[in-house]
Amino acid sequence: MLLPITAKKTNDDVIEIGGCKLTELRNVFKTPLYIIDIETIKKQCNEYLESFNYGDIQSEIIYASKAFCTVAMCQLIKQLGLSIDVSTGGELFIALRSGFEPEKIYFHGNNKSEDEIKFALDYKVGTFIVDNFDELETLNQLAYQRNIKQKIMLRITPGIKAHTHKYIQTGAIESKFGFGLYGGYAHEAVNKALSFENIELIGIHAHIGSQIFNIEVYDKLIDTMISFISEINNKEKITIDKINIGGGLGIKYTSEDKPATIKQLSEVVYKAIKKYSEKHKVSINKVYLEPGRSIIGNAGVTLYEVGNIKYIPQLKNYIAIDGGISDNIRPVLYQAKYEAWIANRSYYIDSIRDGDVIVNEGYEIKDNNKNNNKNYNNNSEKNSDKNNKEEGSLINYSIVGKHCESGDVIIEDILLPEVKKGDLILVGSTGAYCYSMSSNYNGQPKNAVVAVENGKCWLWVERQSYEDLVSKDKKLYEYEFCKHDSLFDEKNVY
Ligand SMILES: Cc1ncc(COP(=O)(O)O)c(C=O)c1O
Repeated sequence: MLLPITAKKTNDDVIEIGGCKLTELRNVFKTPLYIIDIETIKKQCNEYLESFNYGDIQSEIIYASKAFCTVAMCQLIKQLGLSIDVSTGGELFIALRSGFEPEKIYFHGNNKSEDEIKFALDYKVGTFIVDNFDELETLNQLAYQRNIKQKIMLRITPGIKAHTHKYIQTGAIESKFGFGLYGGYAHEAVNKALSFENIELIGIHAHIGSQIFNIEVYDKLIDTMISFISEINNKEKITIDKINIGGGLGIKYTSEDKPATIKQLSEVVYKAIKKYSEKHKVSINKVYLEPGRSIIGNAGVTLYEVGNIKYIPQLKNYIAIDGGISDNIRPVLYQAKYEAWIANRSYYIDSIRDGDVIVNEGYEIKDNNKNNNKNYNNNSEKNSDKNNKEEGSLINYSIVGKHCESGDVIIEDILLPEVKKGDLILVGSTGAYCYSMSSNYNGQPKNAVVAVENGKCWLWVERQSYEDLVSKDKKLYEYEFCKHDSLFDEKNVY
């Protein structure tokens, strides 16, 4: 699926999601707008819970909140019965504010501050995923001060490169995350954890990367993890029996993407646990997963309004939208590709089924990220279908944002029927790592987030106002700090 499973085309050529017409959502909430389809999230979560319900091996599905973290999202995840992972004090705060049970929170991060660790301990967060020696020592000390024994997993760096963009590879030996197996650091970390009175080591964690298509890499990961567990169990006379294999399952961003399904992942994981438990003579009784993108990615879309359109004959055609890199940094950061549709005049779309868009004959948008055909008249034969309500050439556009950067491009090449000022552009698969990576660049207020289900909609996050942009700003000489002043005490310094 490229769009949420509830996406449909209505009789008046408008795209609707969760039973809500996008034109109506625009009228109420304005654009740019993040739209989240609750049914798609439910489907993905249930698929994880069902597929990993092995019977003879326990499992726990932990939503990686970094993908999209708001109070309402955490509440939905809690309601669906998943656990949650957080990687900063901020995400932890949001999860706690949502009412998430602390016991079901997993605290990640490669540089947790002392304040963050204290915060998590004081709120009785269930499990820390410890990343490095400093953290291990600090955690032990702070747990000692609180007279508690804190459950942890150790994050190891397995030395496995996932075939994905290098910025989202995290398992290679040179990674900034975790204790390397290479060099013996992981084993040393186990010894240290075992020697600490206020630490309880419950399992081993690894996360090799994100947007992974070749799921066979999990077989290799599980082999490596179980082999390591066998080594430490034998040498240290312990019985570690839990592995956390992180997140990473890829999703569809363009029609060319062919990601594996959750079910297929569960089969690979099950077979691998069975095979390598036997091979390394270890009993593994629980597996944890931390999916983020594969839960929320296709459930979210972004709706923009078209402003200026610029044609440079024989060279380039631009559609400028009212958002851009401030609400979706992924194309710039990872050269991520997307697909888009005209949401208010979808006459060129035949139907949308299970999140996949079928365009009318003559309007197939093939190779949209590669097509560099500048001679648009050559496309005219694609428009021979007289059943279409409107005619016109397919035009190769670049969809660009409104920011002061030439790199502010959401889609480099896409073939669309002629786009008009005021049209609504729907970009699919923007649920993960768009809102959570959004910024106020160029003073752009952050988009509202609206959730839809069964013809109803709920505001999950209000659109920022211009006032919000300056709400933390002080005026010139308004707020004086002086070393000897009482203002200079801890409460006032962040
Ligand atoms: C430790 C950890 N777990 C889980 C995830 C979620 O990955 P994904 O969104 O690809 O499922 C990430 C993402 O970077 C991560 O760093």
